[in-house]
Amino acid sequence: MEPRSNIEKPKDRKVKRQKNQKIEDMEIIEIKKDQQQYISEIAALESDIFPDPWSEKSIRDTLENPQARIWAIISRQAPPCSCASTATEHASETAASCASTAPEHASETAASCASTAPEHAGKPQLLGYVIFYYVLDEGEIARIATSPQHRRQGVAVRLLEKMRAFSYEQNITRWLLDVRISNETAIHFYKASGFAKDGVRKNFYANPPEDAILMSCEVETSGSDRA
Ligand SMILES: CC(C)(COP(=O)(O)OP(=O)(O)OC[C@H]1O[C@@H](n2cnc3c(N)ncnc32)[C@H](O)[C@@H]1OP(=O)(O)O)[C@@H](O)C(=O)NCCC(=O)NCCS
Repeated sequence: MEPRSNIEKPKDRKVKRQKNQKIEDMEIIEIKKDQQQYISEIAALESDIFPDPWSEKSIRDTLENPQARIWAIISRQAPPCSCASTATEHASETAASCASTAPEHASETAASCASTAPEHAGKPQLLGYVIFYYVLDEGEIARIATSPQHRRQGVAVRLLEKMRAFSYEQNITRWLLDVRISNETAIHFYKASGFAKDGVRKNFYANPPEDAILMSCEVETSGSDRA
């Protein structure tokens, strides 16, 4: 199976239309061992997005590691679902599934959707997550992902901003990561976020086998570039 996040794929067109729709109330929370709901939702997103997904068990094991963090980014806004008023059979579905199953509604406004889907209001919606490790002054991003229907709305950037603040607290001066060579979207995202390519590691990945691009980003922790 090929990685699914290549840039400009046709299936991303609907997502691109959502660009610049603001998610007003993004909130980042640290996932703890007792937050089973989020752990299950992250594992479900993993399965949807990655060819080599982390299982719920891997996620729970990671939460046992004191040098690891899992942060989720959530919204408590009603999702932009126009289906409740226009196609009652979709009324209980999320915005994501509505958009994918009823493309004829995709161009309607978020405002009307939110007002007609009150059953979703207040229920936290998982927009994305990041999983990272850190030891002394170095950190490594193991995973970062945004749910397909919330991409290009600054979700992953918000996670990196929070990681920057965490770097200051923990005196982390360098972040490392590896990314599948075919994952052009992620490579664009990382470059746009200040990461530079360090090299290529041959056959780094399994399922499917693939080379990795190694990237890193220095963080100035002296205080000079703090927001
Ligand atoms: C990579 C990923 C996390 C980016 O998440 P996102 O929330 O959509 O990213 P943002 O909206 O914060 O984008 C920030 C910037 O990254 C760049 N970028 C993001 N997606 C891009 C794309 N498809 N094409 C080109 N540039 C892109 C842009 O510069 C963008 O800024 P802009 O929208 O103002 O132009 C997301 O595409 C994803 O989940 N991919 C699948 C999982 C994955 O491959 N993760 C990385 C490996 S662990």
